[in-house]
Amino acid sequence: MACAVAMVCTVLLGTQWGDEGKGKITDLLSRDHDAVVRFQGGNNAGHTIVVGGVKFKLHLVPSGVIRGGIASVIGDGCVVDPWVLEKELRDLELRGISTANVVLSDRAHLIMPYHRELDRVQETSRAGSSKVGTTGRGIGPCYQDKMGRTGIRASDLRYPPLLEEKVRKGCRDAAAICGALGSPVTFDPAVILRELHELGEVLVPRVRDAPALLNDMMDKGARVLLEGAQGTFLDIDRGTYPFVTSSSCSTGNASAGSGIGPSWFERVIGVVKAYTTRVGEGPFPTELTDHVGEMMRDVGCEFGTTTNRPRRCGWLDLVLVRSSVKWNSIDDLALTKTDVLSSLKEVLVCTEYSIPREAAERCGLPTVIRDFPSHLELLKECRPVYRKLKGWGELSKEEWEACRAEGTLPPGLDGYVSLIEREVLAAVTLVSYGPGRDETIELGGS
Ligand code: GDP
Ligand code: IMO
Ligand code: MG
Repeated sequence: MACAVAMVCTVLLGTQWGDEGKGKITDLLSRDHDAVVRFQGGNNAGHTIVVGGVKFKLHLVPSGVIRGGIASVIGDGCVVDPWVLEKELRDLELRGISTANVVLSDRAHLIMPYHRELDRVQETSRAGSSKVGTTGRGIGPCYQDKMGRTGIRASDLRYPPLLEEKVRKGCRDAAAICGALGSPVTFDPAVILRELHELGEVLVPRVRDAPALLNDMMDKGARVLLEGAQGTFLDIDRGTYPFVTSSSCSTGNASAGSGIGPSWFERVIGVVKAYTTRVGEGPFPTELTDHVGEMMRDVGCEFGTTTNRPRRCGWLDLVLVRSSVKWNSIDDLALTKTDVLSSLKEVLVCTEYSIPREAAERCGLPTVIRDFPSHLELLKECRPVYRKLKGWGELSKEEWEACRAEGTLPPGLDGYVSLIEREVLAAVTLVSYGPGRDETIELGGS
């Protein structure tokens, strides 16, 4: 069966624009691991896990926490809103989920209330078509402070005078920026410091040197699952810049953001939704604005886990997935939400983009391209080239369960999976047909 033997270190990441079902697959694979680590992003992420019909939505705490009994580490590369983390931990405990093994890296940066406000003000100041459509959680401004070397890290909670100095400066700088952007606002450092002091009583006992902890665990034989947030095309370098998030969602950053050296990585698994979605602004070549797109949104419940915004929907785009496989050294794929397309007699899959001759000549490219282009001006000229396949039809619960028991795919879906494998050169080892932990077919060979 798939994944029976977990590698020392497995990286799991999204191959599209986020919301591929990473939470579900992480929860499933966590059974074979001793720790699950988030290595980037913050509470812009919303990872959903459904166990026995009970739904959990996680934003900061790694998705292994629901299974329990393993370490859940919020790694160095994350940005953490202490107010949100404290509430998420409290809510989990109230629902009977132990958070005793949740660790916060001492190097993780903290999102302050002024980062949230800056996110809002910066977004408001962007003119119409340049709006990013951020989640408004303060992610970008917090990473700006990190890169500007003025950020506040979790370990600063242990040093009140230093923390006070940093918070006062953060408040002053943020007020100046908001004022310059035409939204005057003031922040009260005393209130922030008082609340941080209270939050610190809950959070500081969890603050640890995460790279030291994880490397010690692996030296003793522990297996670690690194859970990506967002997806390849929201990556700050590889994504549809500037319509991206402010961190790198790629395999390389799984090392940088966790403090685990890349030579520990033995398997990289990419999560692919059976169609494509995107929430927020930015280009989307296979977007559907017709009844099929609406069906995907309705049947797939495509509303943001974090912001509840409707997600834009479209056909599966293998140009995205192919590039993600290459850039991330993806070994195998988990295909999710196949049940959502069941009502379709025919399904379309984009395998390449065609571009007008003039644009091709300008960029020194052929008129058909198979790798995702870097420039949005070129992307605007790309037209998806589709392959049409037979659908797999509605399956009863029993029929899906029979496939699951046998590790086989229903007719039609087998052709869809074969096309994906041929086009992107990676094996599909998991096929998900419902939100529940058990609604997953594990294919042999992994
Ligand atoms: P993530 O951010 O990648 O973890 O994904 P989200 O949790 O934001 O969005 C995925 C949504 O699809 C969640 O509501 C999941 O419960 C749900 N989901 C995951 N896999 C499947 C599947 O195979 N079929 C269906 N119908 N829903 C799924
Ligand atoms: P998970 O982990 C989908 C999108 C936002 C916006 C852009 C920048 O659940 O897959 P930000 O607040 O990060 O500055 O917003 O990125 N975005 C996501 N879209 N899933 C996510 O996370 C996302 N996290 C950020 O909608 O377009
Ligand atoms: Mg999500």
